[in-house]
Amino acid sequence: MARIFITGSSDRLGLGIRSARALIKRGHDVYLHARNSQRAQDARTACPGAKDVFVADLASVEGTKSLAKQLNQTGPWDAIAHNAAHPRLAQGVTNPKNKDGIPVLFVVNTLAPYILTSLVNPPAKRYVFVSSGMHKGGDPSLLNIQQCNYSDSKLHNVLLSFWFARRLADRGVLSNAMSPGWVATRMGGSSAPDDIDAAVDTYVLLAEGSGVAEGETGKYWYQTQARSSSGTGHETSYLKELDDEDLQDQLIETLEKISGVKPPEYFTNWDID
Ligand SMILES: NC(=O)c1ccc[n+]([C@@H]2O[C@H](COP(=O)([O-])OP(=O)(O)OC[C@H]3O[C@@H](n4cnc5c(N)ncnc54)[C@H](OP(=O)(O)O)[C@@H]3O)[C@@H](O)[C@H]2O)c1
Repeated sequence: MARIFITGSSDRLGLGIRSARALIKRGHDVYLHARNSQRAQDARTACPGAKDVFVADLASVEGTKSLAKQLNQTGPWDAIAHNAAHPRLAQGVTNPKNKDGIPVLFVVNTLAPYILTSLVNPPAKRYVFVSSGMHKGGDPSLLNIQQCNYSDSKLHNVLLSFWFARRLADRGVLSNAMSPGWVATRMGGSSAPDDIDAAVDTYVLLAEGSGVAEGETGKYWYQTQARSSSGTGHETSYLKELDDEDLQDQLIETLEKISGVKPPEYFTNWDID
């Protein structure tokens, strides 16, 4: 039995809640997350078997730090799934900014998983970074990162997972990225064509570190299989640039500068400001 935490697990149709239900069925203790108390109540109603729901708005650095504090007070964790995401902006819609003037999509999708993974101590044994096949349309230059769009942020998620896989390897931590495919959730829309059960099975495998995922780290998964950068098809491979360790390092340096949060390597004191 594992203790598993899933961010952005407040929507009754969402992959977070669906994966939580599947993991609970398999005997795990699952903890949910919502942006506010109303959404936390929604999460409890949708998934009554969950152990608890943590409340934190990931649209600010402070909100994510407060979540890390809650996780540290209740850890250690076997697995953390970075599932929360701000959706793709509709054509012509301005990217909203948080109270610090930073675009929310960047803060929720890119900065929050970096901050949480850096501040949770001891680290979880396994991390799941939920990306998307849309990362292939992302910009690997990392230019104007705060103005990034959804595809860019999903590319960042893969870079983050690969970087943490390297950095936390000597602590026995496994870190993987996955694409759920285009599946029917509030974000995906009701006519999404891909197999949502296969997406949930992938969350389960990676959160448990079981079956074909046992001992695996630094990989990109789709429909329960690790995929390579040379595969074919939209979802069945990842952008080969993501294997570039310099690019992974560059992203971490950039996020450290923006957030003021140091990655785990430099920790001497685990207190969170
Ligand atoms: N569905 C697809 O076809 C598809 C395809 C590729 C990748 N994905 C990825 O799969 C993951 C789950 O998406 P989903 O389809 O299940 O959509 P979803 O139900 O909309 O899930 C997104 C979750 O993130 C939460 N969230 C967003 N902003 C937040 C904030 N500021 N603070 C706290 N929580 C916040 C949402 O909370 P609220 O409910 O309160 O807004 C929601 O619970 C995402 O990472 C998404 O990018 C989905």
